[in-house]
Amino acid sequence: MATVTADLVEIARRRLTSSGVFVMSPADLNTALDVDDDAWRRFRTHWDDLAPDTYAGTLGTRRLRRYGHFRYRTDDACATLMPHHEFVQPQDSNPLYVRQDRHFEPLTARFAADPLLHMVLNLLGRIATALDTLCEWSAKVHPFRVLASADADGQPTPEGLHHDGVTLVTSLLIDRRNATGGESLVVDLDGRRLLSTTLSRPGTLLLGDDRRTLHGVSPIRPVDPAAPAQRDVLVITYAPPSPR
Ligand SMILES: [Fe+2]
Repeated sequence: MATVTADLVEIARRRLTSSGVFVMSPADLNTALDVDDDAWRRFRTHWDDLAPDTYAGTLGTRRLRRYGHFRYRTDDACATLMPHHEFVQPQDSNPLYVRQDRHFEPLTARFAADPLLHMVLNLLGRIATALDTLCEWSAKVHPFRVLASADADGQPTPEGLHHDGVTLVTSLLIDRRNATGGESLVVDLDGRRLLSTTLSRPGTLLLGDDRRTLHGVSPIRPVDPAAPAQRDVLVITYAPPSPR
């Protein structure tokens, strides 16, 4: 299994360094982590315990989230939770929140200690070192749930196409219910399209070199207008170490 995982990590590393973007299938992710679908069914219960994003709420978007900051060391592949603090978008990369600290609820203790989260952090840390040979990374964990109704689209990225101001940006689909739309678009720095895909199968992992790409996600809407639409993702970013 270790050899298979190493092969999948190497494919992701090569694709990221050559084209700047890569999508890993749910089957390959399960193989790389040596888990099955039951592990994800249990993991996604964390998304039923998120908190309102009041900043997105002022823009008319119903979004739930939490936030956790980890220090990831490459030598022992260990992710350590840092003290909780406000979230500062690195390098003023988000035009909606330039120089604005945002306060989000921390990951629950159960979420922050979840073995599957740490397996994902380890896998992504191994891939991140293809982009920069750092001994230590600042890994930021953002579980999101975006909701939509018949009279209100859900905006996964209200800022439009953007950088996260990091080295590696990743988005893992956890669940989609009654949702249409939500197309992910990745472009290069000249605006040329590198990838457009709709993360529809839970366990699909989108990775991008944030230094050479921009990304955005189109709005979601309900398939059945009588019920809400829901899109759950886990965004994890890797950047050079920072205290915040
Ligand atoms: Fe982003």
